Amino acid sequence: MIVDRQGRRFRNLRISLTSACNYACTYCVPNGKRLVAAQDELSAEAMARGVAYLIEAAGIERLRITGGEPLVSPKLEAFMTAVGQMGLEDISLTTNGQLLAKKLPLLVNAGIRRLNVSLDTLDASAFRGIARGGDLATVLDGMNEASAAGMKIKVNMVPLRGQNLDQVMPLLDYCLERGYELRFIELMRMGHLAKDSNAFLQQFVSLQQLLSLIGERYEYLQADAPVDATAVRYEIPGQGHFGVIANESVPFCRTCSRLRLSSTGWLHGCLSSSNRHYIGDLLDKPRHQALPALQRLLVKALGDKQEVAFSGGATVMKIIGG
Ligand code: 5AD
Repeated sequence: MIVDRQGRRFRNLRISLTSACNYACTYCVPNGKRLVAAQDELSAEAMARGVAYLIEAAGIERLRITGGEPLVSPKLEAFMTAVGQMGLEDISLTTNGQLLAKKLPLLVNAGIRRLNVSLDTLDASAFRGIARGGDLATVLDGMNEASAAGMKIKVNMVPLRGQNLDQVMPLLDYCLERGYELRFIELMRMGHLAKDSNAFLQQFVSLQQLLSLIGERYEYLQADAPVDATAVRYEIPGQGHFGVIANESVPFCRTCSRLRLSSTGWLHGCLSSSNRHYIGDLLDKPRHQALPALQRLLVKALGDKQEVAFSGGATVMKIIGG
């Protein structure tokens, strides 16, 4: 097991199945162009082998499938079938929900029980303005069906000043009524926002601002969360929970256990570092050759983690998922 001086190790793997996405969210794709799959994306088999090797070399216990948008990828079924047999503690998926109803049987069969659905507003016209793709009603129907099929749903909302702050309470009520857990994600200085401090500061909404908005209507208490959780969790007694992933206000680098693999075979030890390590070539090699080389790269990837706080990075969420 590879452990650093702060006692951190890789426990959670996030794999971006494809960089293609059927949205072009403003904070992710500034030019508004729909993303397509990278030419040199790994096959489902190579990715699954990557997971198997990383379980062994890094001690990965939990897997999250991300993108781009993972549900648009033709690799989804083969990948999920393969990783479903690896004895992982948990496999979950982050999606924008657009294809959720359609792919639900596949997800249920693959043993997926937890979904994070990205949804920034309940207003259809604001939705079109932020996501620049897809359709709000389709996402809501998808969540409804997934929930009826027994899936646990978390909703990810990125609050943006001037775009969807008026949606904080409607979305919170919507989620509380349905038993979904709403997660507010403080805007992160990723991609173009790492370079454009003004654009970032104009849109950024902090944990404190969110709590004071919510506090106008609800009483809340801080709730338990796992030590390596990224979210600060709150309970509204008798109603449910919500969380805030407060990259800026409550940095969680000290307990970060995440490792990311891009769809083109690059390992990222930290979202805030531009370092990445290519393992695509190792995935064609037998285990005894791949593992020692992989372990050397994992040491480097773990060394890429920040000491204390996320400071922003050129890496873009669209390539590497959340
Ligand atoms: N800051 C915060 N959240 C972001 N996401 C994408 N880009 C950013 C950013 N710059 C969110 C998406 C999705 C999750 C995986 O990350 O909305 O819900």
